[in-house]
Amino acid sequence: MAQVVQEIIDCFNNFNSDVLNGINHNRRDFAHSLFQYPAMMVPSVQEPILKAILNLLPSDPWLIDPYMGSATSFVTAMKYGFNMYGQDINPLSLLIGQVKTGPYLQDSEYRLGEVYNRIKQDTKSKIEVSFSNIDKWFEHDVQIELSKIKRSISLEKKRHFRKFLWVAFAETIRLSSNDRTSTFKLHIRSKEEIEYRKISPIKLFLEISNRNMRDLSKYKIVLDDCGWLKKGKYTNNVTLRLGDSAKKIRSRAKFDLLFTSPPYGDNNTTVTYGQYSYLPLQWINLNDIDSAVSQDCLKTTHEIDRRSLGGRAYRDVSNIKERLFFVSRELKNFYCSFSLEKQKKINKILYFFNDLDRSIKNVVHSLNEDAFLIFTIGNRHGGGKELYNTLILKEILEAYGIKLMVDLKRDIQGKRMPSRNNISNTMKRENVLIFRR
Ligand SMILES: C[S@@+](CC[C@H](N)C(=O)[O-])C[C@H]1O[C@@H](n2cnc3c(N)ncnc32)[C@H](O)[C@@H]1O
Repeated sequence: MAQVVQEIIDCFNNFNSDVLNGINHNRRDFAHSLFQYPAMMVPSVQEPILKAILNLLPSDPWLIDPYMGSATSFVTAMKYGFNMYGQDINPLSLLIGQVKTGPYLQDSEYRLGEVYNRIKQDTKSKIEVSFSNIDKWFEHDVQIELSKIKRSISLEKKRHFRKFLWVAFAETIRLSSNDRTSTFKLHIRSKEEIEYRKISPIKLFLEISNRNMRDLSKYKIVLDDCGWLKKGKYTNNVTLRLGDSAKKIRSRAKFDLLFTSPPYGDNNTTVTYGQYSYLPLQWINLNDIDSAVSQDCLKTTHEIDRRSLGGRAYRDVSNIKERLFFVSRELKNFYCSFSLEKQKKINKILYFFNDLDRSIKNVVHSLNEDAFLIFTIGNRHGGGKELYNTLILKEILEAYGIKLMVDLKRDIQGKRMPSRNNISNTMKRENVLIFRR
């Protein structure tokens, strides 16, 4: 054991800080460029770590990402032939992941010309969707153009091509709505700005779908060159599902590596992945993503965030306190440093760690003996004080017999994080924590 530990420490201590800090990183390369999901991991940082750990894993390894987001970990891991399973609570994350991980279309199957022709020939002005406040979020002309695109995509016969088109459509919707793109929360632009803007969703859709096609084709060549594709399909296992990791891991496989970046807190006070996805999901045919996706997740702008880790209040706080404070001295000290009145206001933090703990318990059950766990996570602020997510995670994992081996610190360069809220101060740095079971 001591020798393995030394091997791991040696392997990662040689890491160049420029690589870790993501200097010269480019998140828009190939498949990573499809839809800029919030708080994406940085591939140029993840790749050398994944490559190094590969030497320490059994052959034909299995990787799990229980909070997969836009499947950044998988796009990188596919180059090394991992078998992979991922799940996320957000249907948009599932859609993006499905398109990024294939099956990949042949160049001739991207019949974009036919899709565009149908849009051009469509003279209807019927609006295809209706939801509360649609007129607040989309100008009437924009709704008409988006409806033409939606009708054209729906007429496409091949489901996988439709999924590709929905991803390009999702980005088009974000860019042509009246929501400010500078924040992840839904936040309306000023009246003057809305009047002044000249947006053509159809033009945007043409540009985005062409760019996505080029990027996916380039990524397909990379995978082909590595020998991991047969008839456009990844030769190893890749399964992605909609799932709440705090409830269940929806795979029976046993994993050698967990490779992930979890949420840093409940979505409402950290990154509102659900609000960010709300408008695109209103326009997409949800059945095309997965039969498990239902319209219920859009009943309010906050519903996906409410279903995410820490989004729901627990009735019996004393029960969860008992367990969490037993496991994490850091969390206990943090919580107890507030007055009784203030403690009530930060109970959300307990809900989040309780859900995180539940999800970790589920994941640990699906790990092989000797499995590695790599978390990219940063600290945040809570109740005006610094909250050491990294230490709390370490203590939670210790309770499951999982030990921290290496702690790599990195400066965040271009990761899309909220810039103007109470967690920003501590979001300039994050850690890559390498654990072993
Ligand atoms: C930091 S992001 C992951 C980013 C991802 N690694 C990437 O590079 O795109 C965290 C993800 O956790 C997901 N999440 C939150 N609660 C969840 C839950 N209960 N079960 C599964 N996923 C959840 C969010 O929807 C979000 O996509």
